[in-house]
Amino acid sequence: MVQALSLVAFTVSSFLISRTSAVPTSSSCCDAFRSQFPGQVDIPEFATAYFSAQESDITPSCRVNPKTAEEVVQVLNITTQNGCKFAVRSGGHMPWAGSANIDEPGVTIDLGFLNSTTLSDDKGVAHVGPGARWGSVYDAIAPEGRVVVGGRGEDVGVGGFLLGGGLSFFSPKFGFGGDNVVGYQVILADGRIVEANSQENSDLFWAMRLAGTNFGIVTRYDLRTLPSTRMWGGLRSYNLSFALDAANAMLDFTGKVAAEGLDTLGLDFGNADEFFTNFAHIEPDIDNSDVFNATLDIPFTMDTTRSNVTLKNLIQEIDALFASGLHVAFRTISFTPDAQFMVDLWQEGLKIFAPYQGNPNVSWTLGYSPISLSMLRAIEAADDAQGLATEDGAIMITNLSAFWTDDISEDDMQSKLSQLIEWGKATAQERGIWRKYLYLNYASPDVDPYASIPTDNAQRLRSIRKKFDPEDVFLRLWPGGFKL
Ligand SMILES: Cc1cc2nc3c(=O)[nH]c(=O)nc-3n(C[C@H](O)[C@H](O)[C@H](O)COP(=O)(O)OP(=O)(O)OC[C@H]3O[C@@H](n4cnc5c(N)ncnc54)[C@H](O)[C@@H]3O)c2cc1C
Ligand SMILES: *[C@@H]1O[C@H](CO)[C@@H](O)[C@H](O)[C@H]1NC(C)=O
Ligand SMILES: *[C@@H]1O[C@H](CO)[C@@H](O)[C@H](O)[C@H]1NC(C)=O
Ligand SMILES: *[C@@H]1O[C@H](CO)[C@@H](O)[C@H](O)[C@H]1NC(C)=O
Ligand SMILES: *[C@@H]1O[C@H](CO)[C@@H](O)[C@H](O)[C@H]1NC(C)=O
Ligand SMILES: *[C@@H]1O[C@H](CO)[C@@H](O)[C@H](O)[C@H]1NC(C)=O
Ligand SMILES: *[C@@H]1O[C@H](CO)[C@@H](O)[C@H](O)[C@H]1NC(C)=O
Ligand SMILES: *[C@@H]1O[C@H](CO)[C@@H](O)[C@H](O)[C@H]1NC(C)=O
Repeated sequence: MVQALSLVAFTVSSFLISRTSAVPTSSSCCDAFRSQFPGQVDIPEFATAYFSAQESDITPSCRVNPKTAEEVVQVLNITTQNGCKFAVRSGGHMPWAGSANIDEPGVTIDLGFLNSTTLSDDKGVAHVGPGARWGSVYDAIAPEGRVVVGGRGEDVGVGGFLLGGGLSFFSPKFGFGGDNVVGYQVILADGRIVEANSQENSDLFWAMRLAGTNFGIVTRYDLRTLPSTRMWGGLRSYNLSFALDAANAMLDFTGKVAAEGLDTLGLDFGNADEFFTNFAHIEPDIDNSDVFNATLDIPFTMDTTRSNVTLKNLIQEIDALFASGLHVAFRTISFTPDAQFMVDLWQEGLKIFAPYQGNPNVSWTLGYSPISLSMLRAIEAADDAQGLATEDGAIMITNLSAFWTDDISEDDMQSKLSQLIEWGKATAQERGIWRKYLYLNYASPDVDPYASIPTDNAQRLRSIRKKFDPEDVFLRLWPGGFKL
């Protein structure tokens, strides 16, 4: 409740500030965009190209679609020189209002045209624009026999995904998507275009793996590629009476996958009358692997698992579970893997959302994904700012997601979601399994993922920000997304 009320207070006060203190400078930004980029301002198809209704419902003074990094520089120069507030959109999948869009008098810089994917001559690196969607990236490099550590949804954008971690089917072996970026092209607050990699601007390179909207606008990602393989995987659904068995089976899996990290298992409990698992193994068949055995032993009601499928086959199946255009909210909490807690949190959700049970216009899901020791080893090797460490042991990441239609109260849904997370935090603390870590890509604006990483790393990120944006331009003019 407290969280929800403070969220409302925060939103209301920032609304008032932007209304009273903003001089109507954005019209000068929009006029300049219209004269310098004719045909690239307010293109209708981009206005509503967001995953959530809350983001599509926001109307900026104008939306500009630069086509090259140089055009992004010009757009950013115009924006900062006129003191216009702005938002940046890549794939538009972060659901909360104002994360990648902004009310007038703000302007939205839309990177949708920067969506190309090319491979280096030796095929070891893919150069990808931030506006690309993961499905198009996979399509572009599959004919060359390559794959990258990218999203599990076709339409999810590259831009935001890689600035907040990035959980992939390849993560159990190779770490977060961000851990596999070998270079960034970044537009800094003063309009300079810089490269950030292990040789050039190595401090900025380290920071970019958890950059959020703090360091610059990324106009190109260089991604380490892997040989693509056929996979084994699919979905199953189950009678709710097997929930505890499935949670126990996931703990068994978390221990077994630690050895090789070839496998991903997701478990989704919600208000549906069944629960679901999704499986992926990055070889054509599971042969004699026993990582999924405990889960595969549970009687199921539906099964699409099969061998010799493509990555695309698997992600299309997951995409089919998400409808866009609805109101959407994510929340997250982390804990030391514990089967009883996984079930109890879900049961508490059923109590809190009881007033909506049976209402076809509301759905919510608690998705559990473990970060096992194999993934922690890869994360440690990459040395990112998130600070997850093998010595702390495996950790369970939760994505609580809810979807609802226009006729349902936004405030009530947001407050119920916060209430469930508050219950989960208090209960996990009582049971000694609460973990501070908040996965940025699933976090909500009422929490601070940067407060969940080691303090030294947050300090180092802040000092790098001060070096590259000494005048705090991005703090003043770019309100959306997670701020350090
Ligand atoms: C259906 C669905 C499936 C998902 N699946 C996964 C998954 O498998 N694994 C996972 O880890 N996450 C997943 N997510 C979460 C996803 O990673 C985040 O929502 C991510 O932010 C989406 O990136 P985007 O480019 O589409 O979003 P956007 O909303 O465009 O951007 C997100 C944030 O990043 C900022 N940003 C975007 N591009 C840039 C840039 N080039 N430079 C600087 N800042 C930028 C934006 O300003 C915004 O604050 C999923 C989300 C949805 C809705
Ligand atoms: C953008 O601004 C920077 C710094 O003021 C300047 O060096 C650069 O030439 C400008 N670029 C364009 C394209 O306006
Ligand atoms: C890039 O975006 C444009 C405009 O939305 C679209 O027409 C094109 O198909 C996209 N290209 C790829 C490779 O997705
Ligand atoms: C789930 O199993 C229980 C107990 O066996 C049974 O009563 C119930 O009808 C089943 N539910 C569904 C949706 O099949
Ligand atoms: C949330 O996690 C579950 C379980 O891992 C997964 O099935 C689902 O796709 C995830 N959702 C998002 C938005 O990433
Ligand atoms: C796990 O399953 C595989 C085949 O799917 C089988 O060969 C193996 O014996 C099983 N292991 C255990 C411990 O059940
Ligand atoms: C896997 O599928 C491909 C494409 O359909 C096919 O060529 C290949 O023979 C299959 N491999 C096996 C082992 O079935
Ligand atoms: C669900 O939404 C539809 C259309 O928005 C509305 O007509 C209907 O009454 C709603 N149903 C419930 C149970 O709220």
